[in-house]
Amino acid sequence: MRLKYLVAVSLLAIACNDDSPKSSNNSNNANNVNNVNNANNANNVNNANNANNVNNINNLEGMTYHKDVRPLLEAECVSCHLSGGDGIGPFGLTSYAEVQPLAALIADATQTNRMPPWPPATDSCVPISHERTLDDMQKAILKSWADDGAPEGNPDDYVAPELEEQVEMGEPDLVVNIGTDYKPNPPAAGSIDDYHCFVIDPGLTEDKWINAYETVPSNYGIAHHMLMYAVPPSQLSNLEAKSGEQPGPGYTCFGGPGVGSSNLLGGWVPGTVMTAYQDGAGVKIDAGSLIVVQMHYNTINDDQGTDRTQIKFHFTDGPANPSLRLFPIAQPGLFVPAGEKNGFAEASYELPIPVTVHGIAPHMHTLGTATRTRIESDDTELACLIDIPNWDFNWQGFYIFDEPVTLPRGTNVTVECEYDNSPDNQPGDQMPRDIRWGEGTFDEMCITYFIVEG
Ligand code: HEC
Repeated sequence: MRLKYLVAVSLLAIACNDDSPKSSNNSNNANNVNNVNNANNANNVNNANNANNVNNINNLEGMTYHKDVRPLLEAECVSCHLSGGDGIGPFGLTSYAEVQPLAALIADATQTNRMPPWPPATDSCVPISHERTLDDMQKAILKSWADDGAPEGNPDDYVAPELEEQVEMGEPDLVVNIGTDYKPNPPAAGSIDDYHCFVIDPGLTEDKWINAYETVPSNYGIAHHMLMYAVPPSQLSNLEAKSGEQPGPGYTCFGGPGVGSSNLLGGWVPGTVMTAYQDGAGVKIDAGSLIVVQMHYNTINDDQGTDRTQIKFHFTDGPANPSLRLFPIAQPGLFVPAGEKNGFAEASYELPIPVTVHGIAPHMHTLGTATRTRIESDDTELACLIDIPNWDFNWQGFYIFDEPVTLPRGTNVTVECEYDNSPDNQPGDQMPRDIRWGEGTFDEMCITYFIVEG
């Protein structure tokens, strides 16, 4: 099943819109270049303890918990695997008592790249800031240690890992929260997931540009992901109608805010602390907009209490330079027949002007299995912007590139989406049904947002 459409989205708005003065001075943000910080992420950290093992990766000996494993887990895993399982990870990885019984599972999960969760293919396409992956040496250490029977070693050998420094953003300009201490309800029998939309009025009397934002759930044990959308004043009546359908607070939602072509503003998955754009860059939010925050809660443990997620915004001083927007390329005509194991949709767009891309956020639902964005142009060697070979609805990243990428005029950008609509890949063990575009649990999407200048 292959569909090919030329999607009628227009970059004209970008070509015409030059409301981002090049002279704006964002000196407050001067230190914030390129800083999507993952607390757990320490890929650039060289664990000094292991320096002596560099030459014998295939023949490691004498790995112990305190000397080798504990610093590695602290750098790469414990932001999600908090003590006692209080994070989104199902158990803690913070002490020998917690880790030792799981040694073989840890070795396997890391050898097979199930952990840490990082859906994009590594070393392909464009380098992404703060990749959450282990290098071969780190994987070998965990495996060798597990194979040796997971020895504890001497606590005196422990040296704290050098965690990546948090970038100091200063005080946020605006802090909002979902407005209630929300106790998730499993929406349907057999489901453990609650997707709930909360409407927030940020009280913006003038246009603002988001340079950075930090998402802070109050309950990391249940908050599994967040996507936020701006609903501009022209669409507020749709939103009132939508949110009025349910008693509140907020309303149940799955694939989006349910109010049409609202603008995605950002997203969060566990392990990400701050999402920030290059110095001075920012995504515009119009005066008078409401923000819809879609939370995905995991209700596997019924007794895990309530959450009140906060979002802390840092705006640019005045109009951003460059001003960014989230530009979608989508295939609203997608169709995957019931039972089809190799469903496919794609959308292509030829750039009428050069476009600078700062990051990318692909979006599909649960039948999606893979997505990638291909680039074709005589003027660039680049073949793709992102490649996600194992799509996971639970780990929808908001990927910011290390360096923005400029695509020449005439570049053909193609978003490809693959689906498995066979009987053994159905949410809640439903019978397969014909799948079309939509925001519901039994609908699909094929949409990729490009964070572009203009
Ligand atoms: C960004 C959050 C996050 C990080 C970082 C993370 N985990 Fe996990 N881990 C999870 C979640 C959530 C689960 C539950 C299963 C799922 O949702 O995929 C899990 C499950 C697991 C499991 C059991 C399931 C399986 O696939 O075997 C193991 C073992 C594990 N993690 C080990 C690790 C190790 C070791 C690290 C560090 C190298 C790590 N995790 C880093 C979130 C994380």
